[in-house]
Amino acid sequence: MKPIEYADRITSIEKSELRQLFDKAPADAINLGLGEIQFPTPKIITERAIDIIKQGNIRYTPNAGLPELQKSITDYYNIQLNENVCVTTGAEEAIFASLFSFINPGDEVLIANPTYIAYKTIIKMLGGVTVEFDLDPLSNFKLDRNHFTNKINSKTKVLLLNNPSNPTGTCFSKSEIDFIVSKCNENNILIIVDEIYRELYIDNKPITFLNKTGKIIVISGLSKSHCMSGWRVGWVVSNDPELIKPIIISHQYICTCAPYISQEVAIKALSSEGMKDQNKIRLELKTNREFVLKQFEQYLSHISILNNTSSPYLFINVKVDDMVLVNELIENGLIVMPGRIFGSNGKHWIRLNYAVDKKKLAKGIRIIKKYYKVI
Ligand SMILES: Cc1ncc(COP(=O)(O)O)c(C=O)c1O
Repeated sequence: MKPIEYADRITSIEKSELRQLFDKAPADAINLGLGEIQFPTPKIITERAIDIIKQGNIRYTPNAGLPELQKSITDYYNIQLNENVCVTTGAEEAIFASLFSFINPGDEVLIANPTYIAYKTIIKMLGGVTVEFDLDPLSNFKLDRNHFTNKINSKTKVLLLNNPSNPTGTCFSKSEIDFIVSKCNENNILIIVDEIYRELYIDNKPITFLNKTGKIIVISGLSKSHCMSGWRVGWVVSNDPELIKPIIISHQYICTCAPYISQEVAIKALSSEGMKDQNKIRLELKTNREFVLKQFEQYLSHISILNNTSSPYLFINVKVDDMVLVNELIENGLIVMPGRIFGSNGKHWIRLNYAVDKKKLAKGIRIIKKYYKVI
């Protein structure tokens, strides 16, 4: 019998470069490469989950989510109606369902260079065309406004942003945001903003794009803010319920609804008690960041680190070939991410995630110090 042929849309997608790198690492390698907050999930969350399980009535929810959770999300953003929210199975599904709902094959989607790697692949899976605009590595990854403007044409349908950014850990300035929003409004472009790292700010909470006027959809979730990556809770929210309607339809046929237990638990996570624990996570990340910055200042002061405003990533200007360096660090037992994976402007940079316990973090930094022969 002949083997079954895979669909073209899947054969065109290569195994992610990230995975290929991880596969090479020794089993006991320190992993500062993952995009995860590797702290335990707060107890009030896990205890709430146990209560729900004991109640024994684990069922479907409405497609757009439990009304009480929708209300917690609208309260978080200070907006009015449950119709403005669709609860999803993590932010990843929110990105997929949003793009699925708005782009036709051949439509162009603007994304930053560098940005979160999944965007390109999802756009490709949906037949869209990725168009990159530069964040300039020579000026702290600020928006290159001319480049951005020149990339807009009659086929541009969506701008997909990440604020704060994975991998840089920085946010667009107020004037950059105003510029971006006004350009998109002028050109009738839908803005989708992934704000999954918003609660992990260092000093000042970034504004949400929901405060701006335009065709805007915001995506977020609890994976990063509450160390809940395995619970799979995300959402899509907009001031305009008409923008949410098609996403609820897509989401219904992708997964029916987000997991019931996780949705119940998410209500707790967004309560004032849950947000207190969230703040502890944020402060712990801040302490880890200070530790890494001090270590670099003391031992590796010739290497510059981009001044991030949000955890958990440091973007480090290694100035050499990032792929070569990362391979060598992996051989020495440390995983970090090469910057080019996030776009060509990330070449010569590496991304380090400091959201691990302090012992592991210290071990990881020690491997870097040994590599540079400063200890
Ligand atoms: C920018 C960005 N968006 C979305 C996700 C996926 O989040 P979730 O676990 O909620 O699907 C990640 C995970 O690394 C991310 O970095």
